[in-house]
Amino acid sequence: MPDTFTIRVNGTEHAVATDADRPLLDVLREDLALTGTKYGCGEGACRACTVLIDGEATQACITSIETAAGSEIETIEGLAASGQLHPVQQAFIDQAGMQCGYCVPGQIMTAVALLRSSPQATDEEIVAEMTGNLCRCCNYENILAAVQQAAGRAPDASAP
Ligand code: FES
Ligand code: FES
Repeated sequence: MPDTFTIRVNGTEHAVATDADRPLLDVLREDLALTGTKYGCGEGACRACTVLIDGEATQACITSIETAAGSEIETIEGLAASGQLHPVQQAFIDQAGMQCGYCVPGQIMTAVALLRSSPQATDEEIVAEMTGNLCRCCNYENILAAVQQAAGRAPDASAP
């Protein structure tokens, strides 16, 4: 027998009738049609599914709807405002931060969380925070350049 859970996603409240242990990722993609958040491994190991829950970068595939209920959830769909891309989104375009693009929503959400707490994050901070966001295209150099740009400095090709 499903329960009803209330989640706020990108500022809009949704009541979802489902099983308590259903992953937030499935609810976002299947019930709310927010397919920007990607399914990678489904077991917390790749961070393709990263969303922000109360501002924290979180893997939606291993977060149950019951755990997420009552929280503010932000997904990639909520970043652009008034027709303007978020600066991190723009930086990924400017620095060719995507190849196939599959990992990019998760990369961007992790970077957004980092830059909110550390707007001029150092290369060491960027690498430490984003090292768990896997990119099967191995586009790490350009991803780092994008986050460097979003952190307000010129991309440094010699950075770690
Ligand atoms: S799909 Fe969630 S961590 Fe891989
Ligand atoms: S751009 Fe293809 S997985 Fe990262």
